[in-house]
Amino acid sequence: MGKGVIANLNKEIPADKRVMITFGGGSVKNNGVYDQVKEALKDYDTVEFWGIEPNPSIETLRKAIELGKEKKVDFLLAVGGGSVIDGTKLISAGLLYDGDAWDLLLTHQSAIDTVPLGTVLTLPATGSEMNNGAVISRHETKEKYAFFSNFPVFSILDPEVTFTLPPHQVACGLVDTFVHTVEQYMTTPGQSRLMDRWAEGILQTLVEIAPKIRENQNDYQLMADFMLSATMALNGFTSMGVSQDWATHMIGHELTALHGLSHGHTLAIVYPATLRILREAKGDKLIQYGERVWNITSGTRDERIDAAIAHTEEFFRSLGLTTRLCEEKIGLETIDEIERRFNARNAAYGENANVTAAMAKTILNSCLKEF
Ligand code: NZQ
Ligand code: ZN
Repeated sequence: MGKGVIANLNKEIPADKRVMITFGGGSVKNNGVYDQVKEALKDYDTVEFWGIEPNPSIETLRKAIELGKEKKVDFLLAVGGGSVIDGTKLISAGLLYDGDAWDLLLTHQSAIDTVPLGTVLTLPATGSEMNNGAVISRHETKEKYAFFSNFPVFSILDPEVTFTLPPHQVACGLVDTFVHTVEQYMTTPGQSRLMDRWAEGILQTLVEIAPKIRENQNDYQLMADFMLSATMALNGFTSMGVSQDWATHMIGHELTALHGLSHGHTLAIVYPATLRILREAKGDKLIQYGERVWNITSGTRDERIDAAIAHTEEFFRSLGLTTRLCEEKIGLETIDEIERRFNARNAAYGENANVTAAMAKTILNSCLKEF
């Protein structure tokens, strides 16, 4: 991590590798990242694959797998945000799999055989640069599922490449980082002092830097703190020995699959509603969070919980995101479809496995009304 580190790429990839470099829609051509990668790999045998879209689709990735097999690539380099990295994780497993790579999503099994993968991250959000998760969509059926694959063998993080991010992606990245942290924190207190404080450190950092980033996105130190927070929020460091939630993510994925909303934006809508509905089960932790992250130290138990939830939603709105379904013209039809999908898979998410289809419906109903 640091300024100019893309130049070190050739120290990370063995010289005899045939490398497939994967990209998104072209942002890397406008901000100099493409030129830096090409310069660093000028002595390598490379193949390029372009067009991994936000919420990467199996339809696109099948083409990359076909190309990679044809060219016999034995190293992958993903250059982009979470979508390019996630998509490349599927390519990495798909290159060594004989069947259709979508099978890997359906069996929910971890891919064992994979081609090594490195990344150049351009968007702080998902933590995909330092974890083994990937989330893949299937456009023809409007489905979106996670699977577990390989960890990147290295990731290169230059905060300067984030200066060109559209403000909407910055907002979504901040919310994604925030919600990854709370999905591994907002359960019950007393499980680990260290994990709690680690998570609260990330949350406090985000609350402090977010308004400053909105004022000046070209501040290297701010973007470096953002980038490192995003990596630390989902690389396994804050989850050791503590229970985890993930219900908001599972509901959010359905909103993306059905309506194409950016991942972080779905979380800004669903998370405050999850807290409103599960306020009793999460109450003790909400009070700790309110005190340590938002400095809420007085009031009755209910008032303190109310204030902690309100601060969370207002924080997401302060980034320029909407937090209610009606603001995105999403209504009952979508809620019914998500309930149907959750019933079909006997869903039971959350730390208490009580976010069933019926509970998801209650949560979504709570974000129907206006703010
Ligand atoms: O495609 P290009 O032209 O590169 O543009 C991208 C894309 O349009 C643009 N962008 C990226 N870096 C840029 C830039 N534009 C200007 N300057 C830069 N430096 O940003 C847009 C969005 O990119 P995308 O990769 O889709 O965003 P993100 O990193 O938020 O990834 C979202 C995907 O990751 C999954 C989500 O579900 C979603 O599919 N997640 C992956 C996780 C994981 N692997 O652990 C966990 C997360 O919870 C999440 O589910
Ligand atoms: Zn996420």
